[in-house]
Amino acid sequence: MPEQTIPESTSVQDAPISDSEVLLTVDHVTLRFGGVVALNDVDFEIRTGEILGLIGPNGAGKTTCFNAMTGVYKPTSGSITFDGTQIAGSKPHQITALGIARTFQNIRLFPEMSALENVMVGCDARNKTSVLGALFRMYRIWGLPEEDLPRNPVRRALAKVIGVSRHEVEERRSRRKSWELLRFVGIADRADELSRNLPYGYQRRLEIARALATDPKLLCLDEPAAGFNPAEKEDLMGLIRRIRDRGLTVLLIEHDMRLVMGVTDRIVVLEFGSKIAEGAPAVVARDPKVIAAYLGEPDAA
Ligand SMILES: Nc1ncnc2c1ncn2[C@@H]1O[C@H](COP(=O)(O)OP(=O)(O)OP(=O)(O)O)[C@@H](O)[C@H]1O
Ligand SMILES: [Mg+2]
Repeated sequence: MPEQTIPESTSVQDAPISDSEVLLTVDHVTLRFGGVVALNDVDFEIRTGEILGLIGPNGAGKTTCFNAMTGVYKPTSGSITFDGTQIAGSKPHQITALGIARTFQNIRLFPEMSALENVMVGCDARNKTSVLGALFRMYRIWGLPEEDLPRNPVRRALAKVIGVSRHEVEERRSRRKSWELLRFVGIADRADELSRNLPYGYQRRLEIARALATDPKLLCLDEPAAGFNPAEKEDLMGLIRRIRDRGLTVLLIEHDMRLVMGVTDRIVVLEFGSKIAEGAPAVVARDPKVIAAYLGEPDAA
């Protein structure tokens, strides 16, 4: 008897986009490390479908804000609501499952895995096969579309009779999705190379592909252009726009003002853990408090 078919992973492309809809709310969040107040009563919203910039001088609390949103740290006080669920203090894997993905200021890949395998790890966040199920290849499935069957004609014919294990189907789908994501971020030409051997720019893009593999609604990028030359930054801006065009919402931490001003819809500015400004890029850029905060910051020139 056919056990059940597993649906294709839900795609954020199908999600309706409304500019006014709020996807995430940071509500009076304070986060202290001993005597250091990394976030001080911070409030802001991320609207569905927007690219929101989060900027501020070094040590302003930007990464800490990501860490609070992704379950690395629990806020000392305040709440964070994502898609209707209160997430402050939840575990990182629970937040990933709800639909927030991130990249890291300092690249964190699995260095001994290939680029493709790194992305497949991201896909695993959405796969259902248990370890035991995978080991014994239980949960056989029938009635699958041709693309989910083995390519080899003999194995394909056999699969139609005896079914295919859920684990095998998930792996085939993960592989297909990972290839698509590597193409999407522009690094498919080195899919089989160990990630530690990839050029720096490829590693940064690979982190983005792996984050996208978890099917997020919200993608948080922590200084994705750090160390990039102007041409690479230009490419990255294009990629961020294409990510939004896939139906995702993007939160971007970035020091390069030209990039931030060029790609974001709105900007939130932090300084010493507090929000000092928020609004359209052109308005924020003229704000005297923001200009003062950035005086002496070479990247802001
Ligand atoms: N785990 C921690 N323990 C103690 N202090 C921390 C910790 N993480 C961050 N901080 C402190 O919190 C403040 C905010 O740091 P955070 O890394 O969020 O800044 P940032 O805005 O991301 O800066 P940068 O632009 O340099 O990346 C800093 O004073 C930092 O030293
Ligand atoms: Mg940081």
